[in-house]
Amino acid sequence: MKRVRILAIETSCDETSVAVIEDGEKILSNVVASQIKSHQRFGGIVPEIASRHHVEQITLIAQEALNEANLSIENIDAVAVTEGPGLVGALLIGISAAKAIAFAHGLPLIPVNHIAGHIYANQLVRPLTFPLLALVVSGGHTELVLMQKDGDYHIIGETRDDAAGEAYDKIGRVIGVPYPGGKHIDEMAQKGEDTFHFPRGMMKENNYDFSFSGLKSSFINRVHNAEQKGEELNKEDLAASFQASVVDVLVSKTIRAAKEYGVKEIVLAGGVAANRGLRNSLSKAVEEQLENTSLAIPPLALCGDNAAMIGAAAYVEYKTQHFVDYSLNAKPGLELS
Ligand code: KG4
Ligand code: ZN
Repeated sequence: MKRVRILAIETSCDETSVAVIEDGEKILSNVVASQIKSHQRFGGIVPEIASRHHVEQITLIAQEALNEANLSIENIDAVAVTEGPGLVGALLIGISAAKAIAFAHGLPLIPVNHIAGHIYANQLVRPLTFPLLALVVSGGHTELVLMQKDGDYHIIGETRDDAAGEAYDKIGRVIGVPYPGGKHIDEMAQKGEDTFHFPRGMMKENNYDFSFSGLKSSFINRVHNAEQKGEELNKEDLAASFQASVVDVLVSKTIRAAKEYGVKEIVLAGGVAANRGLRNSLSKAVEEQLENTSLAIPPLALCGDNAAMIGAAAYVEYKTQHFVDYSLNAKPGLELS
């Protein structure tokens, strides 16, 4: 059978990435150019700066992705691109590039939802098993997604306020680590203990929604309170306590949902999937509490934003010939459907 090679483009936030993916599962190349150093001094992503970097990088990265795959554009069968959610100006750069490449070479154009991409990052490791439950935890999203089959997404719960990654980044600022704080807090947490016992938001509630703003406020209040009293708090314990609260809630709700829906697989997805506490705790909980459910955790390189995951998700659309014309536009608030 002919192999299908998709050139995939991801520019939804601060990573310019282009990949070549074969049959939705094999990475031929996955070039990721991070702009984080340009944003760090502002303590967050500056959308205008992100767009400018994408413009500078996109054609170079696309060529590099083809070179690394040892292919030329004639060997490509389709062009895929993230259409949302994300920053509108950033998305538009990837979309314009994808349209131009597709038009110039007469290739079909495939729009991909960024969150679907995060879920399908796991397909680059081994085939997904359905029905599955995806725990999506990123800088902008925290949701539990039930999938009966490829391309079928049903959100059974989501955050009512901050996303998990967003909460990490906000308390990271308070503790004084560089943006984005998630990775640094995770490292500090490995050396501390849960001594502060922060609240576990909505953990006992009989639904699959999340809330991290109460935790964030408790954390910030505790730190400010100590500052006013001139009291020195152990930062590693603070990080470990925050992490324990986030991980407890994420893991307990995921396990409960997996039992209720009888899924065959749990899939971890999104930037926060890189979190060591979460990876360990979820692995342990699945092993101890679920009998016939496997767990898929992406390798670290595929947790953050990258185009390989977009190519993996695009293959599902390729098989059903879900192509679009050049009126494709960025959808900053795109939902999974
Ligand atoms: O998926 P992603 O790369 O971008 C979005 O689509 O949002 O996720 C980025 C988020 C950031 O909030 C970052 O702090 C968080 O993932 N993150 C982590 C870790 N590594 C990245 N959060 C906790 N622990 C980590 N090890
Ligand atoms: Zn992402």
